[in-house]
Parts: sequence; structure tokens; C-alpha cells
Amino acid sequence: MSETEKPLLKVEGLVKHFPIKKGLLQRQVGAVKAVDGIDFDVRTGETLGVVGESGCGKSTMGRLITRLIEPTGGKVEFDGKDITHLGTGGLRPLRRDVQMIFQDPYGSLNPRHTIGTIVSAPFRLQGVEPEGGVKKEVQRLLELVGLSPEHYNRYPHEFSGGQRQRIGIARALALKPKLVVADEPVSALDVSIQAQVVNLLDDLQAELGLTYVIIAHDLSVVRHVSDRIAVMYLGKIVELADRDSLYKAPMHPYTKALMSAVPIPDPRRRAAKSERILLKGDVPSPISPPSGCRFHTRCWKATEICKTQEPPLLELKPGQRVACHHPENAEDQAPQDTVLLSAAADAIEVVTVGGAEPGAVSVPGPASEPDPEAEAAERTAKPSADDAAMASAGTGTETETETVSAGEASPGPSAEQSAERSAGEEPSGPEASESEPSESEPSESEPSAEKPAKE
Ligand SMILES: Nc1ncnc2c1ncn2[C@@H]1O[C@H](COP(=O)(O)OP(=O)(O)OP(=O)(O)O)[C@@H](O)[C@H]1O
Ligand code: SF4
Ligand SMILES: [Mg+2]
Repeated sequence: MSETEKPLLKVEGLVKHFPIKKGLLQRQVGAVKAVDGIDFDVRTGETLGVVGESGCGKSTMGRLITRLIEPTGGKVEFDGKDITHLGTGGLRPLRRDVQMIFQDPYGSLNPRHTIGTIVSAPFRLQGVEPEGGVKKEVQRLLELVGLSPEHYNRYPHEFSGGQRQRIGIARALALKPKLVVADEPVSALDVSIQAQVVNLLDDLQAELGLTYVIIAHDLSVVRHVSDRIAVMYLGKIVELADRDSLYKAPMHPYTKALMSAVPIPDPRRRAAKSERILLKGDVPSPISPPSGCRFHTRCWKATEICKTQEPPLLELKPGQRVACHHPENAEDQAPQDTVLLSAAADAIEVVTVGGAEPGAVSVPGPASEPDPEAEAAERTAKPSADDAAMASAGTGTETETETVSAGEASPGPSAEQSAERSAGEEPSGPEASESEPSESEPSESEPSAEKPAKE
């Protein structure tokens, strides 16, 4: 992936607080601090991966930088221009340059529209007439993403999850955007399809010179595609570094715990024993995040200063920024503060996984994460069979809900907040309509014979 130093996107002190309202008068009684002061930039041609547990603010960050929602505070600059508070008129040209790929390939395509209508929507909305006409351009885009031009007149229900995500990608690329923000682009797909879509995104980046922000909770996907990675925790970026530094020598204890759960890509080393850090505590509520370092309630290194002073995001190694008083693999930032908080002793459980010896603990969950590198090899061997198999099975999607409340790890907003969310805070800009959300999702159990084989 090519990379230059010029930032295409620059974010400073970005904040999004969703108000919590109560009572007849809908008085504000608090706020969900979904994104709470983050700084980062995205360089032209690079891929920035964003990871973190459910509810830490990844999607909110994605929707802020694409300006689908209005920031509460801070600044977003795109291509040298301040876009933080652009109105509808100002946002129109931005919609050409910045596009979003959504997680749910089922809900994001209108079931009543043909693929031709869906992929040509950006041209209609922006009043753009491509050379050779819209139909020809749409068919070219379908081919670009590995579909057939003949799919132009088909409907979304005739396609498998992987194919639908390709349609979503074709639509996002229609206006030749500079920046593509992909929010969990493969997590709703069957594991066997994920590598194909990840590789497609990779190929398109090389071919079209795209810049990506890829949001994913799956660290294997992020590792595969990213040049740099931002780790988020409860509305903050706690570490930002290039991929290799982050995987080899993470500095933030939270990153270290996350990384310890990533499967080892090298099959020869998979048999070796490794240690995993399991965080025991729940993610605190973003309505009233812990004082000081937000991770102090779950951190095994937490001391008094962690409870009282918020650590700034500092560049402790070239290109590696971390917000921690007692970082790993770097000089202690508060060496005078040595007494651990009482909760720290009980914060984690370290388990040994792998190895053939009896007694090794096998940990469910992360171990089942897909390994794109291994799957990439598989993909080369059978590029479309998996997709077709999934289509005929009519199953295979371990769809993660996009609903943000009541995530298992994150105490989401209350019923009132959820109601308030659907009432007011959702985007109303042109891009929101471009995403053509479906009113009724097509059934997954449709007759498989009607679904065409991909490619
Ligand atoms: N429109 C909204 N109104 C109120 N609260 C919201 C709204 N959108 C998100 N939130 C809350 O903000 C927090 C961050 O949500 P967000 O969707 O950004 O998290 P996420 O990191 O993308 O999680 P996941 O991995 O589950 O997708 C959550 O507590 C969520 O409940
Ligand atoms: S600042 Fe303290 S609590 Fe926070 S991650 Fe670092 S050591 Fe842990
Ligand atoms: Mg999300």
C-alpha cells in the first residue's frame, strides 16, 4: 500500500456526546460520551485500522468523519478543508470524496431496487453523467468488484452476503471517492467469504489509489489490511501506531491484552504455547466513564495516578503514540507511583493456550477468529465456490447487530436513549439516503436455487 506523508484527513479533539433525555419535557439528564476527544490523521493512500471492544465508539467515529452525524466538539479537516460543521450544501461535494461501506450487506441494500438502480444512485443524487452513460459505468463497476455486468437487472435477494457486500462496495466507489470508511465490512459475512472481500478491498486500493479507514473488532482482519492501527477504549484512542510495532511491541496494557488474543498466522508456530490475557471486568458505561485513565478499573498495572490523572496520548517511540502512565515496552511515565490499586491484582487472568501438553487451557472466542492470511491461500484455490456454497446453504452469517445498546460487553444506553436515538440523532444528510436502508430485510431462507453463482 502506497503511503505519503500528507494527511488526507485530520481530526483534532473530536467529541460526540449523545444526550440522554427524560420526562415529558425531555430534559437532558446526561450524555453517552461515545467519542470523547480523539486526535488522529489519515495519510493519503494508507489504511488506518480502528479496533476496540463493542461500544467503544468506533462506528460513531466513522460516522463523524464521514459527516453523517454532527460532532459535539473538535475539528475534522478533509483535504485541507474544515468540514466539521458543513451544512447540507457544503456536504454535497464531500459526499463524492468520502464514502462509507456499511457492516450489514442485507440491511444496506433496498430490496425493491435492482442492482443497477442501487449502484447508479450516487450518479443520480450528485447529478453526474459518467462517460459512456450510467448503465455502462455501473456494469464496469460491477465487473471491478468481481460481479457480472448481467447482474444489473437482478435484485438484492438473489445474491449471497459476500456478493451483496460487493454491490455495496461498487456503490461506494461509483463517484471515485478519495476516502472510504468501512465499518465492519466483513463481520456480517461467513468466515469463508471474509478473506475474499478483504482481498477485494486491498486490490481496489492498489488499483484506484484509495485511502481507507477500516473499523473492525476482528484483529486478524485489521492486521491484514492496515498500515497503521488506532486502538479505542471508551471513546478515546489509547494507542496509535504502525501495524508491526503495535503487534510486536504494544505499549498500552489494553492493546497488549487485545493482541494476546490474536491467533498466530504462521501455522508452524501455531502449535507453540502462548499466553493470553483475559480482562475480567466489564467495560464501564460511557455515560459516566471512570476518572483518570478510563482503563484503570480493568488494568493490572493501575496505580493511584491512573485513577486521578488522565494520561495524554504521547509519542513514546517514533510513530507510536500511547496514553498510559505505566506503558509496556517503554519508559515508565510515573515511576514514583508504584503502589498498585487493590483492584489491579484481580484484573486479569492469564491463560496458556496451544501446545500439545495436557493441561493447556483452550480459550473459546478469539481462537475462532478467521485468519485472512491463511484464508487468502484458500481463496486462491477456490475463489467462488465458498460464496456459492453459502448462497445455497442460505445460512452462514454470524451477523453482529449494528444496534449499539446493550452490547454484551458494553452497557449501552437506556431505553430512553434508544428512543431518542431513533427520533433525533440519526443522520439525515444525502449520504444517509444514498445508503438506501431497507424497510424489511430480505429473508435469508429464500430458495437457494434462485441465487446465481458468483462470477
Ligand atoms: N445515536 C445514538 N444515541 C445514543 N447513544 C448512541 C448512539 N449511537 C451510539 N451510541 C452509544 O455510543 C456508544 C458507542 O457506540 P458505537 O456504535 O460507536 O460503538 P462501536 O465501537 O461501533 O461498537 P460495536 O463494535 O458494537 O459496533 C455506545 O455506548 C452506544 O450505545
Ligand atoms: S494509565 Fe494506568 S490504568 Fe491506564 S493503562 Fe496505563 S497503567 Fe493501566
Ligand atoms: Mg460499530
